Order: sequence, then C-alpha cells, then structure tokens
Amino acid sequence: MPFAGGAPSAVLMRTAVGAYLGWLFAASVLAGCVAPAPLAPYKVVGDTVPEVLVATPGDPSRGRAISAGRDANCLLCHSVPESDQPFMGDIGPPLAGVGLRLSAAQLRLRIVDAAVLNPDTAMPPYYRVSGLRNVAAQYAGKPILTAQQVEDVVAYLQTLR
Ligand code: HEC
Repeated sequence: MPFAGGAPSAVLMRTAVGAYLGWLFAASVLAGCVAPAPLAPYKVVGDTVPEVLVATPGDPSRGRAISAGRDANCLLCHSVPESDQPFMGDIGPPLAGVGLRLSAAQLRLRIVDAAVLNPDTAMPPYYRVSGLRNVAAQYAGKPILTAQQVEDVVAYLQTLR
C-alpha cells in the first residue's frame, strides 16, 4: 500500500535508521565475542604466577571437564586418579597428589606456560600466544585456554590431593 504524504515515510525512515543502528549494535557485540581478547597481564615470580588471571574463582568441576576435553587434552600426557577416564598418557608425570606437591601459584605457571621452567618441555603453553609455530589460522592470537579456564583447571588440580 503506498504511503500518502510525508509523515508515514518519515516514520518509516526513523524505523529503518533505528533498525540499522540496532543491527550495527548487534554486529559490534558479536564482533566483540569473536575478536581475540587480549591476554590478561600476568607476572612470573620464581616458579609461580602468584596472581589469579581473573577475579571469578576457578570452578573445580569445570576444570575437571576441561582437563579431559579436547582443547586442553591433558590426559593425552598425564594420568589423573579418576576411574572413569579409560585413556590416559604417561609422557608427563601422573597428576595424582599434584595439589599437595604444588601450590595454586605454582600450578598456574605450569598451565600458563610450562616452557618458562623447561624450554624443552613437551607440555603446550596454554595461555601464551607468541612464539608458537604451526598455529592454524582460526587459533591465531588466541590462547588454548581462556583466563577463566586456566583458573578452573588450577582449581581442579588443587583437589588432587
Ligand atoms: C604433550 C604432553 C602434555 C600435555 C598435553 C600436558 N602436559 Fe602437563 N606436563 C607434561 C610434561 C612432559 C611435564 C613434566 C615437566 C616438563 O617437562 O615440563 C608436565 C608437567 C605438568 C605439571 C607439573 C607436575 C609436577 O608434578 O611437577 C602439571 C601440574 C601439569 N603438567 C598439568 C597439565 C595439565 C592440567 C594439562 C592440560 C591443561 C597438561 N599438563 C597438558 C606434558 C604435557
């Protein structure tokens, strides 16, 4: 139906502009989700990263799932004292009792970047984006784990006592 006069089309224009701005807003929110977030700054002190990477406390049950999941793949190289994990590797030391052997701050550095302690380590740096080789394009600029996931894994490892 054709519009008569200027008023309806002005309304239409405003609606169109509003919709466009709304779309722009949605698009920028989406872009914010997919753009690689910069790493949280952290400081290595001795063999530790003493400060948490994010304020939200780590969740051990999420950390347990992350450790066994495909991104972190910790169980490719480590065993954990969990009877429901049938396939576990022995390239790295067993993680049973690691929560007694190492503090949260020591565990954090091992997850963030084990190569700080042993440049020849087989263990991947889970929270580093520089100095990596053969990174697939979709992972460029992104750490393997988010800051929150690192804290979740640290919280889980602390339960292994
Ligand atoms: C490709 C093999 C590999 C993967 C994957 C791996 N690690 Fe390791 N990890 C090692 C090795 C090897 C060591 C022994 C120290 C070294 O060589 O740096 C180690 C050491 C550790 C240590 C110190 C243990 C101790 O008793 O001193 C912890 C904790 C640890 N890894 C946790 C993890 C967690 C959690 C993940 C997954 C997020 C993981 N590792 C993934 C190979 C691996």
